[in-house]
Amino acid sequence: MGSTSFSPSISLSPSLSPHSSKFPNPSPDLFLRSHSSFTPLTLRSNQTRYRFKKLPSSNAPNFLVAASAKAEPLKVIISGAPASGKGTQCELITQKYGLVHIAAGDLLRAEVAAASENGKLAKEYMEKGELVPDEIVVMMVKERLLQPDSQQRGWLLDGYPRSSSQAAALEDYGIRPDVFILLDVSEDILVERVVGRRLDPLTGKIYHLKYSPPENNEIASRLTQRFDDTEEKVKLRLRTHHQNVDAVLSVYKDITVKVNGNEAKERVFAQIDAALTHVGEQRKVNSGSVAA
Ligand code: AP5
Repeated sequence: MGSTSFSPSISLSPSLSPHSSKFPNPSPDLFLRSHSSFTPLTLRSNQTRYRFKKLPSSNAPNFLVAASAKAEPLKVIISGAPASGKGTQCELITQKYGLVHIAAGDLLRAEVAAASENGKLAKEYMEKGELVPDEIVVMMVKERLLQPDSQQRGWLLDGYPRSSSQAAALEDYGIRPDVFILLDVSEDILVERVVGRRLDPLTGKIYHLKYSPPENNEIASRLTQRFDDTEEKVKLRLRTHHQNVDAVLSVYKDITVKVNGNEAKERVFAQIDAALTHVGEQRKVNSGSVAA
């Protein structure tokens, strides 16, 4: 990340001192190099505050140098077949990285529960294990991605895009992740995970009767099962997944990290954690090289 990523809404505030109380962190993010006067300068956008100060060189040319910029929030897509463990891993990722979890399936189920027009239509497709039409899904996801919390904290997009047209829509909006995580799980394990999955309607937590059982009888008594979590329906969902997965992968092949999702959830998370740490380090290196 460097000076090229400034948004057009940035405002200049040359009168502010770098040690003003408006800036709780006195360490500057960016430096202004000018051969004459060195007025402390601040650039601000909605997400990031960029600050400039003079550099010691007296022969420096009159232009801006981005020495180090505060990294933009992380943007992650997690993908995988039905019941590959996306939701389970998203819980662990958000706990550690604080990203906003945006799950296309959850957004759709909220519409179904609200019995909205979109929800009624979506349910017809979900029951058949087919993709809900783009007219419903694309705007819904885009709007959630552009909410202030997603923009400020970064986002973790789960279950979207699922087709080339959905991926193309994201690209058209200029929305691109830093990394695309693909959970790779064998088909027999997927079916077992689907039929054993249960949800706690109170906390939203995902359980599995065998692999992740509820902590006590009180929770066990209120667990529910998703309407599309039957062996018959997961086979339809898997067919839809296989029809579309290659087209989506081709859009993100340069940033894809394939993770072995057959292992226990902690081991799967360890792989993802390592990948996200690596991405974070790369971003730091890149922002440094832009500055040089
Ligand atoms: P969606 O809700 O996204 O379902 P899905 O992709 O089929 O994925 P799941 O939510 O079933 O599984 P998951 O990968 O999150 O696994 P989980 O962590 O729960 O979509 C549902 C429907 O909505 C679609 O069929 C479609 O109709 C529609 N839709 C959604 N997105 C759409 C889009 N973009 N466009 C159009 N339509 C869309 O884990 C599963 C179980 O396994 C749990 O019980 C868990 O405890 C257990 N488990 C997880 N990890 C492990 C592990 N490592 N070891 C042992 N058990 C594990």
